[in-house]
Amino acid sequence: MKGEVVVGGVRFANPVLAASGTFGYGVEFKGIANRLGGIVTKGVTLEERAGNPPPRIAEVPSGIVNSVGLENPGLIKFKRQILPKLKKIKTRILVNVAGFEVDEFIRLAEGLEEENIDGLELNLSCPNVSEGGAVFGQTPQKVEEITRAVRKRTKKLLVVKLTANFVDPRETAKAAEAAGADAVTVINTLYGLILDDNGRPFLGGRTGGISGPAIKPFALFCVDRVAAAVKIPVIGCGGIISGRDAFDFLCAGARLVQVGSANLTAPNGALRVLQELKIIISEKRIKGWESIVGTARRG
Ligand SMILES: Cc1cc2nc3c(=O)[nH]c(=O)nc-3n(C[C@H](O)[C@H](O)[C@H](O)COP(=O)(O)O)c2cc1C
Repeated sequence: MKGEVVVGGVRFANPVLAASGTFGYGVEFKGIANRLGGIVTKGVTLEERAGNPPPRIAEVPSGIVNSVGLENPGLIKFKRQILPKLKKIKTRILVNVAGFEVDEFIRLAEGLEEENIDGLELNLSCPNVSEGGAVFGQTPQKVEEITRAVRKRTKKLLVVKLTANFVDPRETAKAAEAAGADAVTVINTLYGLILDDNGRPFLGGRTGGISGPAIKPFALFCVDRVAAAVKIPVIGCGGIISGRDAFDFLCAGARLVQVGSANLTAPNGALRVLQELKIIISEKRIKGWESIVGTARRG
């Protein structure tokens, strides 16, 4: 059907998804979620987590810095309390999972395999936890190990969300591809530090992750590089708040895009991005998303 995007065999009605952690579990915004290509849930860990102490969010010029620290109810409560509501939303659902040991990723994948969701997004890139997260994502070997272990246990769409913190994401993307990932999400937040008036760390988690328009040029750069380095689809993420931003990411080589911080400004942030993108596409008389994917690299 016109307008669809296929990634790893899964059909998305359009290329705009809500990014993990910025759209709750999606159930809060059903009327919006129904119209998006998909939603990526807030990160789920095996055990319940309270997250980092407050304050957890600080505004900076052109963006925010957060140190939420993966607050979530854990896999069992997620399955019992949230998934039944999520399944009622007519959109693609990717569950973002995070672990602190390889075994946790395995158990999360096994625990979700029988559920009626479209795929998993492995969070190997969260900067707000002291172990796992971005630390795993900084080592191609670890990315490969975790991705391979999960691949063996899931037939669902498997997406690996990469960090660009102190690592070349082309290397980790290649590792994810070699281990059987269907796609990579590029990028998660970038390390950030905010100080208070007394020169002390402002955020309860001490450091945080920068998101929003401030990171867009770097995220776009990473997508361009990673798309040239791997054959699997790239999902662009980082600083997308308008249809023009989404258009840029598709041109840089992304097949799908995720909208994060824009949802915190207004719950319909991702939907607005989609509507604006559709206007750009129709004004330029472009037929199908495929024709613009990667045009930035075609000279
Ligand atoms: C408050 C907040 C919570 C987030 N939680 C998660 C999470 O649980 N898992 C994850 O993979 N990314 C998480 N992210 C990262 C976003 O999904 C996204 O990758 C990042 O914000 C960059 O996109 P943006 O510039 O559009 O916000 C979070 C971001 C924010 C701002």
